[in-house]
Formats: sequence, C-alpha cells, structure tokens
Amino acid sequence: MKIIFIMKDNSEKICNFSEGNTILNVAEANGIPIKSFCEGFGVCGACHICIENMQERIPKMSDKENNALDNSSGLTINSRLACQIVLNKDLDGLKVRLL
Ligand code: FES
Repeated sequence: MKIIFIMKDNSEKICNFSEGNTILNVAEANGIPIKSFCEGFGVCGACHICIENMQERIPKMSDKENNALDNSSGLTINSRLACQIVLNKDLDGLKVRLL
C-alpha cells in the first residue's frame, strides 16, 4: 500500500506503508520532514498536515486531536495531525501535503 507525500516544493514522494502505522510513522521511516515535539502523542500540534484526497475515508477527529490542532498555524478544512491517523488498506493512495 502506498501513501503520497506532497512536499513543500510540490514534488511528490511515494512511500510504502503497512496497516497500523500512522502517517507520522511512515514519514519518519522515509525521511519525510514532518515535525514532532511530543513523539506522536497528539498534544504538540507540530505534525499538522493537510489531507488532499479520500477525506471521507479518514477516521473522524478526536477531541484530543482537535485541541492539539488549535496550537497549529495555517489551519484548513482538511488539516489533521499526522500522528493521529492510523493507516489501513482503505487509505491506499492517500495524498498528504506537508505544510
Ligand atoms: S507529533 Fe505532536 S501532535 Fe503529532
């Protein structure tokens, strides 16, 4: 299964993922620069990314994620935290934009 990261220069990096990993796990394993100050515990808001497709398949946001996102700048309607989205086979082909 693949996830596509859209970098800040609009280039794309395609990475493999296994079910159960978070977007942040996959980014870190592939040298994709997503910040994390809380080691993926969903409290710092630094891993803010934008979901570019499949919005209807992404699990709903928890109150914890919503609160942490409040710490992030440049929020959009598709803003999420990379550490809080656990990947599964329905998300094969997901596109994630780095901010
Ligand atoms: S790494 Fe801190 S909120 Fe995701």
